[in-house]
Amino acid sequence: MDSTVLKVGSFINHQVDSDFMNELGKDFAEHFADYGITKVFTIESSGIAPALMAAKHLNVPMVILKKQTSKILDGEVYQTRVMSFTKGTSYELTLFAEFIDKDDRILLIDDFLANGEAATGAARLIREAGATLAGIGILIEKSFQKGRQRLEEAGYYVYSQAQIARLDTGVIEFVE
Ligand code: G4P
Repeated sequence: MDSTVLKVGSFINHQVDSDFMNELGKDFAEHFADYGITKVFTIESSGIAPALMAAKHLNVPMVILKKQTSKILDGEVYQTRVMSFTKGTSYELTLFAEFIDKDDRILLIDDFLANGEAATGAARLIREAGATLAGIGILIEKSFQKGRQRLEEAGYYVYSQAQIARLDTGVIEFVE
């Protein structure tokens, strides 16, 4: 297996630890309590569990950005293409316009931040809809990749619950 891919299938993205997700959601809600968040957004699928818990603790709705394989041509829809370098695939990140308002202040939650492609795509959609991306909450940031830098340079605030400085076979080094 690729030594830069962390296996989290036992508690995040295959089997899901609900108590742990609840704690992560509570932590996001506490961290972003003063950001005036009106909705929590996530990108399907692994971000859904922590995003739902964060939304519950913030007492706001959660919206799932869908990954479609092709453009939807009819209806009020926002779409933008996202490349995944980790997986070598791309998709149309998709949001129906009825689930976003211009006065929304959005907290985006995702499981991993690697190159920041997914979060940058979500930010594009939110900007296109005229709403505000008020903050980004990440479970696991791979700090040796350029995602955080990219998002910060674009003016977004990123809060990561775990920051990994180095990954190697059998080694996980956290940022101090
Ligand atoms: P980026 O958005 O930050 O640029 O990330 P990138 O394209 O490189 O990675 C995209 C996919 O790869 C995401 O899943 C992400 O969760 C996953 N990923 C990245 N690094 C790791 C890792 O170290 N371990 C695991 N298990 N996954 C990783 P996805 O394809 O968007 O789908 P989903 O899992 O949310 O359904």
